[in-house]
Amino acid sequence: MTEATRDQIMAQRAQRPRENWFDEEYVSYWIDEQDQRANERMRQFVRIRALVPKDPRQEFRYINVGAGAGHLDEVLLEHFQGAHATLQDGARGMLEAARQRLRRFESRVDYVQADLATPDWTEALTGPFDVAVSSIAIHNLRQPSRIRQIYSEIHDLLDAGGLFLNLDYVRVTRPGFSAFAPWAAKDADAGFSYARGGGGSPGTVEEQLGWLREAGFAGAECFWKEFQVALLAGMREALLVPGAE
Ligand SMILES: C[S@@+](CC[C@H](N)C(=O)[O-])C[C@H]1O[C@@H](n2cnc3c(N)ncnc32)[C@H](O)[C@@H]1O
Repeated sequence: MTEATRDQIMAQRAQRPRENWFDEEYVSYWIDEQDQRANERMRQFVRIRALVPKDPRQEFRYINVGAGAGHLDEVLLEHFQGAHATLQDGARGMLEAARQRLRRFESRVDYVQADLATPDWTEALTGPFDVAVSSIAIHNLRQPSRIRQIYSEIHDLLDAGGLFLNLDYVRVTRPGFSAFAPWAAKDADAGFSYARGGGGSPGTVEEQLGWLREAGFAGAECFWKEFQVALLAGMREALLVPGAE
């Protein structure tokens, strides 16, 4: 990343409206902003896609928790032609934008507007799901106690062979580590991205893996991490990866 691009990102951050997912104006602003980060986001979505243990034509059901405008779902539904998606989000504007984006997959998608703040968000859902995914969403709940409950609620929505893939912000173990992202991004050959932030991350990787295990997941792993973004996985009981012994 060049210095000019970095300066541009900083200037845009200074102008951004206050984050509020229940404010339609902020939601529209956020959706518009995503096009500028398309490459960075696509790399993250493709990582999630690569970890879904299904063949492209295999039938399965997945839920996207805090799905937003359906950017990840576009990537998943395009690749997994046998997949049926349930997009859950609290913001009406996000689900409307997702509906537009995913129009061509119409019969393979359900939309559920529900607030993750309380356990009743699962009431409108019909499980079990084979896979649960989430990207940069659950940290918004801020409180570790609520996030731990959400992990447990997601666990209960999954089939016994189910997998939860959660790409989200994580907290660094010591404040001093947060300075490394802008520092390391200066060496463009390394391929680090300064744009990957970590605002308000409620737990470190170690804590989050513990929360997944406490929630009932038989196994919890961190498959990928860069600075304050991590891709965590929870295996409900036993998992079948195509082609594995
Ligand atoms: C940073 S956006 C990410 C959207 C999408 N997962 C993506 O990666 O493109 C965060 C999402 O979490 C949703 N969200 C935040 N707080 C929520 C809550 N309490 N209940 C339900 N959804 C919430 C927002 O509406 C928004 O769609």
